Amino acid sequence: MELPIALDRGSKQSLQAQLHEQIRRLILGARLKPGTPVPASRILASQLGVSRNTVVLAYERLEAEGYLQTRGAIGTYVNLELPENCLTARRPESVAASRMHGSARHRPIAFEGRAQTIVNDKRLACDFWLGRPDPRSFPLKAWRRLINRTLTTAGACLTEYRDPAGLIDLRKAIADHLGPTRGINVGPDQIVIVAGCQEGFNLTARLLLREGMSVAIENPAYQGAACLYESYRARLVPVGVDDNGLCVDALPDTGAALLYVTPSRQYPMGFTLPLERRLHLLDWARRTGTRIVEDDYDGDFRYQGSPITALMGLDSHGYVLHLGTFSRSLGAGLRLGYLVVPKHLVEATRQVKALLDNGHSWLEQAVLAEFIARGGYENHLRRIRQSYAERRNCLIDSLQRHFGDVTVSGTECGMHLAWHLPRHLPRAAELQAVAAEHGVGIYTLESGGACDLGGCAYAERTVLLGFSSLDERQIRDGIERIAAAIDVARTRTHEAIASTWSGAAAPARMPMAGGRVWMEGIRP
Ligand SMILES: Cc1ncc(COP(=O)(O)O)c(C=O)c1O
Repeated sequence: MELPIALDRGSKQSLQAQLHEQIRRLILGARLKPGTPVPASRILASQLGVSRNTVVLAYERLEAEGYLQTRGAIGTYVNLELPENCLTARRPESVAASRMHGSARHRPIAFEGRAQTIVNDKRLACDFWLGRPDPRSFPLKAWRRLINRTLTTAGACLTEYRDPAGLIDLRKAIADHLGPTRGINVGPDQIVIVAGCQEGFNLTARLLLREGMSVAIENPAYQGAACLYESYRARLVPVGVDDNGLCVDALPDTGAALLYVTPSRQYPMGFTLPLERRLHLLDWARRTGTRIVEDDYDGDFRYQGSPITALMGLDSHGYVLHLGTFSRSLGAGLRLGYLVVPKHLVEATRQVKALLDNGHSWLEQAVLAEFIARGGYENHLRRIRQSYAERRNCLIDSLQRHFGDVTVSGTECGMHLAWHLPRHLPRAAELQAVAAEHGVGIYTLESGGACDLGGCAYAERTVLLGFSSLDERQIRDGIERIAAAIDVARTRTHEAIASTWSGAAAPARMPMAGGRVWMEGIRP
């Protein structure tokens, strides 16, 4: 019997390894059935033009792995013990094939749902992608120095499990940062280090949710949070947002196990929840017994006015869990954030964190703790805040230059703006496509990491523009290209466009003191 084997003498893989692999595949693919004799080593060697030793060694390996059996002087056979029904299923191409033939019967997986789209792998020449710090701003020199220093004193830190709640030095440093900047006065025991807000959502869900429970959530909402709570089979109850953030009056009176909210800067619209609404919200939490997950994802970037006291800083009854992240200030690649919990949840949170991943990597925590304690973090924030404020101004200025009076929200803080498109411009999705044709990335709510949970009045005419990772030249160039792209599209499809874009009145607007930018003036 001649085996269908073809050896590639130019391959990096040895002839013996190729032979072993090809015979193995013939067996797994059931082309060599259990009990079938394989050719004697001398015959196969001569057929393939290789040394007999090559075949003997390949056979020996196949025998050791259980594919072949030698029966004394009689010869070598495919192992009879191989269960026939496993063979075709283990062929590499068999998954798709067997699905087609209906022979693979996997039980359904438990996960139902979808994940957020936060990785933008289709970067354009000029990309107003959201929420990314400028890679050039990462404090690389200081980080390298601290890593080296930290490693020299690491001792058993890298080989032993640590407290799942996180390194005490880092938790102390965060507690010291949160007091003056957010008005949250807690001890390190109330802080758990997490792998970014995303793990924080997971942790809060495991802590507070069971299947079928309701989660009140602002609409539009951050996809990462909405998808996560949905994946726990919670029922999402969308609560509308206006230009003062979450519509607190529209919250459900009963039934929600938790509320997810971004009070410092509504994601993605950028509205800040005023004090009056914050106090109402806390009152609602007390009345209904609902816990609040406060996502303070970019509270470090406030350009106007003094820092705003976080919701947790106003809560004296222990209803708020506060999430912060270093993804915006340092970089999402670090996967570092923190969850601050009320005292009565400290022990349960620590246990859930232990179940999730038994704690975060020690080295990054130790380095970050040092970076904060030595004042590096404050300096870094001051520096990038200044440069992001300049980029934000440049973006607003460029929009005005090309489009006249513009309605934008989210200008007081953060790393992106929401531009509310007037009726004479295309809708957000069309504008995104037109801009992309000209090498510029701009984003609708959905493509910018948010989701419309139903009936969101902002969805159609809002474009999100991140400015933190572009320099001023790129920003000016990008907006100029968008204006040019609109002109081209307008000319190209004049008739069709005229019927869709024109004829509607400009939105209600409120002038910002001392400027020509029209802010937060639209009401859905
Ligand atoms: C609303 C919101 N929350 C949280 C995060 C940060 O997530 P993480 O800390 O998991 O990187 C982001 C990042 O884009 C965000 O937009």
